Amino acid sequence: MPTVPFLDLALQNEPLHEELKAALERVIASGQFILGPEVDAFEEAFAQFCDVRHAVALNSGTSALHLGLLVLGVQPGDEVITVAHTFAATAEAILYCGARPVYVDIDPHTLVMNVEQVEAAITDRTRAILPVHLYGNPVDMGRLVDIAGRHGIPVLEDACQAHGALHRGKRVGGWGSAAAFSFYPTKNLGALGEGGILTTDDEDVAQTARMLRNHGEAERYQHSRLGFNYRMTAFQGAVLRTKLPYLESWNNQRRHLADRYREGLEGSSVNTTQETPQSQAVYHLFVVMVDDRQSVQKGLNEVGIETAVYYPTPLDQQPGLTSHITVDSVTADNSVAADNSVAADLPVTRAVSPRIISLPLYPGMSEETVDAVIEHLRGLVEKVRLKH
Ligand SMILES: Cc1ncc(COP(=O)(O)O)c(C=O)c1O
Repeated sequence: MPTVPFLDLALQNEPLHEELKAALERVIASGQFILGPEVDAFEEAFAQFCDVRHAVALNSGTSALHLGLLVLGVQPGDEVITVAHTFAATAEAILYCGARPVYVDIDPHTLVMNVEQVEAAITDRTRAILPVHLYGNPVDMGRLVDIAGRHGIPVLEDACQAHGALHRGKRVGGWGSAAAFSFYPTKNLGALGEGGILTTDDEDVAQTARMLRNHGEAERYQHSRLGFNYRMTAFQGAVLRTKLPYLESWNNQRRHLADRYREGLEGSSVNTTQETPQSQAVYHLFVVMVDDRQSVQKGLNEVGIETAVYYPTPLDQQPGLTSHITVDSVTADNSVAADNSVAADLPVTRAVSPRIISLPLYPGMSEETVDAVIEHLRGLVEKVRLKH
């Protein structure tokens, strides 16, 4: 048993136990297990939370990314601009459409898309831009939607790690033409199983996504387009509806603990991820950068502090995501590499991935536990510094 677990879902769910049981029993009694009133009610509540007009509940964040890209018109041969420093699903969704990810680099402080590089990556084949609010840290959406708008290119936000994050006082999920969220159990708003949702202000986008999630049915057994079984189950709708009212307070706790980490690590050789002054991150993960990560992680593990690495290998270096495509990238001088360039030049991505560690952070974690992690981490990085 670790002294400090990486996260503690049981601790978070425990106070809601009776409410969650009641929600699940409601579904059992209703006899309706797929979509239905529980899911409808959750869609309405989540749309309201994100301040958007529509939310289409799905069975995962990956489905939400896939449907989002399809609905925005991404087709075989198209290009979608995104980042390589993200979870595999971001690129998988592009590849499912037969399109090709074009990777731009990340910002060294926020670790999310460097929006300054996007314009140079746009070609006449660019059909969408897919920014990722990684770790719950918003991309500079004000600037990005401005660039995308000038080129008439739709934006799909990967908000799978960013429920409730704000940029310029506006929620993520409402900045692009559409946004994908995941309700994987560990997320800031987690189901008791798989789940996802697509948010949008656009009635047509929402209607097409509703059709595609249900086998492309325009009417019962009338399939006007090739669709999927991407429906949310009623159990997850009922669970998520029950948990949503707590999200804001959980996010506030995460922000508070992140501030404490940041203050406690000040003056050490640990670099912490930064938010921009226009953003309010929700710290799905609290990520720091250290030299000699292996020693630091081992040292923390030896005293019972669990850590993780999200993500050790950028997506342009993953065989499963590159073997059947060629990868373009923006080079250091902001020009786009030739079509067949597989050796993507993403210097910040390359520099960051061997140095990142996610520290324990979850609602209900005590300040004393954060302080203990800080103390051990400070000691370990000092040891590493003296060794080199
Ligand atoms: C950034 C990002 N994109 C996409 C996904 C995919 O979501 P899901 O696991 O619900 O399919 C995840 C979640 O793991 C994620 O973290």
